[in-house]
Amino acid sequence: MQIRKASGAEMLALWGYPKLDAASPTARLFNQNIASGNAVFWTLEHEGSLIGELYAFFDLPDKDFADGKTTAYLCAFRVKPAFRGRGLGSRLMEAALGELKTRGFRRATIGVSESEPQNLRLYRRLGFTEKVKDCRADPCAMDENMQPVVDPEPWVLLCKELQEGKE
Ligand SMILES: CC(C)(COP(=O)(O)OP(=O)(O)OC[C@H]1O[C@@H](n2cnc3c(N)ncnc32)[C@H](O)[C@@H]1OP(=O)(O)O)[C@@H](O)C(=O)NCCC(=O)NCCS
Repeated sequence: MQIRKASGAEMLALWGYPKLDAASPTARLFNQNIASGNAVFWTLEHEGSLIGELYAFFDLPDKDFADGKTTAYLCAFRVKPAFRGRGLGSRLMEAALGELKTRGFRRATIGVSESEPQNLRLYRRLGFTEKVKDCRADPCAMDENMQPVVDPEPWVLLCKELQEGKE
């Protein structure tokens, strides 16, 4: 099992889009931001296949999510079902948090629905203990007009401090 950074083309392939033309608005946004350096894609690779993914966006229009300097937004955190519950997601997250810290970020944010107690527990264990605010739209999930999709249910933006002594 290897944790490494991956490209926008690998993200498109993982999401089932062989070509950019066919990609969803959200996939196009991720691809553009990875290409411009405003987002990073970390993956778990097992026997040549990508079995996990996690992305960080460095700067977003809503600065509570990511402000380009102090705060970065983590999203699309997924491990393939057959590989869950073995600590791999936590390892992928730790790798991402370590790199954000090295890049000088002081805070990482992540969104979670209060109807997902397993994810809430996992994020709390990983140090996302502070609530930033209630949200209705993920700035990295786009509709056909490249506007953030408004979710039917509210969810919570959580935050983890990355500075020494605040973890
Ligand atoms: C969230 C996720 C990435 C965690 O990956 P993982 O490799 O299972 O994580 P770990 O093995 O390091 O940790 C497992 C923890 O996740 C929780 N978890 C959440 N959903 C789980 C699932 N479907 N299967 C197993 N564990 C799950 C477990 O309760 C466990 O917490 P605990 O140790 O406190 O009991 C993975 O479960 C997943 O892909 N879920 C579906 C997508 C999702 O909900 N993503 C988050 C929001 S974008």
